Amino acid sequence: MANDILKFLREKEYVSGEVLAKKLGISRVAVWKQIQKLKDIGYRIISDQNLGYCLVSRPDLLLPQEIQIGLSTKYIGKEMYYFPKLKSTNIIAKEKALHRAEGIDEGTLIIAERQSAGKGRLSREWFSPVGGIWLSIVLYPQLSPSYISRITLMTAVAAVKAIKICTQIESQIKWPNDILINEKKVCGILTEMSAELDIINWVVVGIGINVNIDHREFPEDIQENTISLKEALDKEVLRVKLVQTFLQEFEKYYEKLKRKEFPSILGEWKLYSHTLGKKIRADIGERIVTGEAIDINESGALILKKEDGELIEIISGTII
Ligand code: BTN
Repeated sequence: MANDILKFLREKEYVSGEVLAKKLGISRVAVWKQIQKLKDIGYRIISDQNLGYCLVSRPDLLLPQEIQIGLSTKYIGKEMYYFPKLKSTNIIAKEKALHRAEGIDEGTLIIAERQSAGKGRLSREWFSPVGGIWLSIVLYPQLSPSYISRITLMTAVAAVKAIKICTQIESQIKWPNDILINEKKVCGILTEMSAELDIINWVVVGIGINVNIDHREFPEDIQENTISLKEALDKEVLRVKLVQTFLQEFEKYYEKLKRKEFPSILGEWKLYSHTLGKKIRADIGERIVTGEAIDINESGALILKKEDGELIEIISGTII
């Protein structure tokens, strides 16, 4: 109901309580109560005895009604669960993904203002204070589990594109999925899945973007390598707009991936790469390998050329 009232308030400068009550088939007292609810979550609404209610400003929150109003996706983010605070959007998204049969559709989005136990890759903690974008998307691609790295790479391309569209900033991708500005991390991606031998049951793509945050809020040991969009741009970024743009780009690339057009996504990934052509050291779990990052292959693996000329294919690992 509150969302319907918002819709009318957005359309006109002033709307009387009487008109709202008539349009929604409720009493004027019920309208007043809904207006109070909206004010409680941060909408500034003034009322004039003769003219009625007027929406003055919106809260700087990632509320579904704010995100969905300008969202032109077909299914990504059409269903949205919003939390002022939770442990981790990936945890909730994974719980939701298990309930596909009960109507949790592809593209369902979990979004939070902050996370108390945000998860990074390799079981690291992911610091997620107020001011960032912390979201996870539930997907059910009919693809083989080997596609998981491609999904992560395409998410990174969508993030770089969205950042560019909204801020003009040209960020870079450090294989496989760190987004960097001036060599510092601004965004991370955590892809998790459940699969059978040859088919994916579900995938959860979690992305965290440091938007309007001061890097000094981060734990000391990562401060030096962390940056936010606000710091790179020297002004605050409209988070709602960035979420909308990211979801639109994400859907575009995900559709391409499903049409088996990964090579063209990979072409873009290479344009934004921070890794290719560099001498790197990579931690691949059981050992550390050194060499030149010469390519990414058609399944998303990094090709490293060792000093002795041997080529190794790295499917998962971390560049040190
Ligand atoms: C990394 O670079 O280590 C990946 C970080 C991924 C963080 C995001 S924030 C939203 C989603 N929920 C989580 O708990 N993690 C991901």
